[in-house]
Amino acid sequence: MALQSDSAGLLPVVRLRNVTKEYRLEGKSLPVLRGVSLDVQSGEVIAVVGRSGAGKSTLLHVIGGLDTATAGEVEVVGERLDRMRVPQLAPFRNQHVGFVFQFHHLLPEFTAAENTAMPLLIRGVGLKDALKVARQYLDMVGLADRAEHKPGELSGGEQQRIAVARALIPKPTLVLADEPSGNLDSETGERLHDLLWNLSRAEGRTFVIVTHNRNLAERADRILTIEDGILVE
Ligand SMILES: Nc1ncnc2c1ncn2[C@@H]1O[C@H](COP(=O)(O)OP(=O)(O)O)[C@@H](O)[C@H]1O
Ligand SMILES: [Mg+2]
Repeated sequence: MALQSDSAGLLPVVRLRNVTKEYRLEGKSLPVLRGVSLDVQSGEVIAVVGRSGAGKSTLLHVIGGLDTATAGEVEVVGERLDRMRVPQLAPFRNQHVGFVFQFHHLLPEFTAAENTAMPLLIRGVGLKDALKVARQYLDMVGLADRAEHKPGELSGGEQQRIAVARALIPKPTLVLADEPSGNLDSETGERLHDLLWNLSRAEGRTFVIVTHNRNLAERADRILTIEDGILVE
C-alpha cells in the first residue's frame, strides 16, 4: 500500500517532452516553442518568466489543453493530451485544471457568488449547494461580504480574487495563472500575489504562474525562463 502511494506521488503532474508549437500565418510558420521538456511534481509552485512574445501564454495553453502542441508529448495528470481530440479537452480541463488569466473573464450579469459557483454548476451541482461552496471560497479570498455584487461593482483586484476563487472551486490538480496581476497596480498586485502564494501552500495544489513580477517569481520553488522557444531553468 505504502509503496503504491509513494510511486503515485512521484508521477509528475505535468510532463512535457520535446514539445514544439508553430503558428501558421499566411503560409509562413512561426515557431514559438522549439522543443520544451518539463516535469512539474505534485505540490510544486513554478514561475515562468520571459519577455513579451516569448511564448509563455502558448506554453500555459498547451499544458492546460486550451491549445494543442504541433509535436511532442504533453502529459498532464497522467493523461496524454497530445493523443486527445479537441472535444475531449474541454471535459479534461473542467476536471483537472483551474485557470486564472490576466483578464478575469467573469460574466458581468452574474454575482460574485454565481461566477465563483460556475464550474460546479457546469458539472451539474445544484444551485443552492454550489452557492454555499462558492461563499466558502469567497471567504477564502477575503470577499465574503461581496458575494452579491456583480463584477462591475467591484475593483480590479477584487475581480481577480473572484477569478482565483472560481479557478480553485473545482479543486483542480493543477492551477495555471497567466500574468494574474498584469492589469493591477503594484500594491493590489502584491496583495493578489500574497493570496496566490498562501493558497498554493495551504491547498497543496500544483501551480504554474507566468509573471513579470520578480518578488512573486522568487517565492516559487523553481523559476523557468522561456528564451528562443526553449525553457531554461
Ligand atoms: N493564435 C496565434 N496565431 C498566431 N500567432 C500567435 C498566436 N498566439 C500567439 N502567437 C504568437 O506567438 C508568439 C508567442 O505568443 P505568447 O505565447 O502569447 O507570448 P507571451 O505570453 O510570452 O507574451 C508571439 O509572437 C505571438 O504573436
Ligand atoms: Mg502572454
